[in-house]
Amino acid sequence: KVYFHLLASLLESSDKIANTASVYGAFLKKLKKSASKKLILEPAIFELNDNEHLVFNENANDLIKKISGDILYLDPPYNHREYGANYHLLNTIALYDDFIPKGKTGLREYKKSAWCKKNSAQSALDDLLKSAKFSQIFLSYNNEGIISPDEIRKTMSKYGKYKCFTKEYRRFKADSKREHKADSVVEYLHFLEKDL
Ligand SMILES: C[S@@+](CC[C@H](N)C(=O)[O-])C[C@H]1O[C@@H](n2cnc3c(N)ncnc32)[C@H](O)[C@@H]1O
Repeated sequence: KVYFHLLASLLESSDKIANTASVYGAFLKKLKKSASKKLILEPAIFELNDNEHLVFNENANDLIKKISGDILYLDPPYNHREYGANYHLLNTIALYDDFIPKGKTGLREYKKSAWCKKNSAQSALDDLLKSAKFSQIFLSYNNEGIISPDEIRKTMSKYGKYKCFTKEYRRFKADSKREHKADSVVEYLHFLEKDL
């Protein structure tokens, strides 16, 4: 337990001084100000309580077949950016192993996600919903994501009563160089009351 608390602290503290533009797909050519600071190992926020928790590190589409519960909250990737590529250095710290760096940016091998591809994201969602033994299912998804809000509505409606909640946010600064930029992003919270 102490090992994982220290590891979480190291990951969070390293991220604060990483010389990247927030994701680790590539490093910045020049050292940015925050990256020239010393690494200070600060304890990760950690709270002891009486609840029991289970944590899994597994493909959600496989895991869903083995678990059940009341509420399922899904927060999958919604664009083509693979987390394994964009946060690979954090995975290397967590795994603490040797690997052979690949390509210009020195990536390690990583698991690709069905949720990050146009031709498989919708079926990953359908498959997960079909297998879910949960009566209340929430899904956070961006309105500009791979699966359109309408496709999500259609897919969820197959399995029970569907509802959608929206919230408007100002767009992140890092995104502001895009062409046809909109000032805000609408976050969708899709909801399914599943017929079990
Ligand atoms: C939008 S992030 C979730 C962020 C999280 N809710 C949080 O607050 O830290 C999506 C996560 O899903 C993971 N992921 C992608 N495909 C997956 C899959 N098939 N099974 C399980 N996790 C997956 C990614 O690695 C990433 O960590």
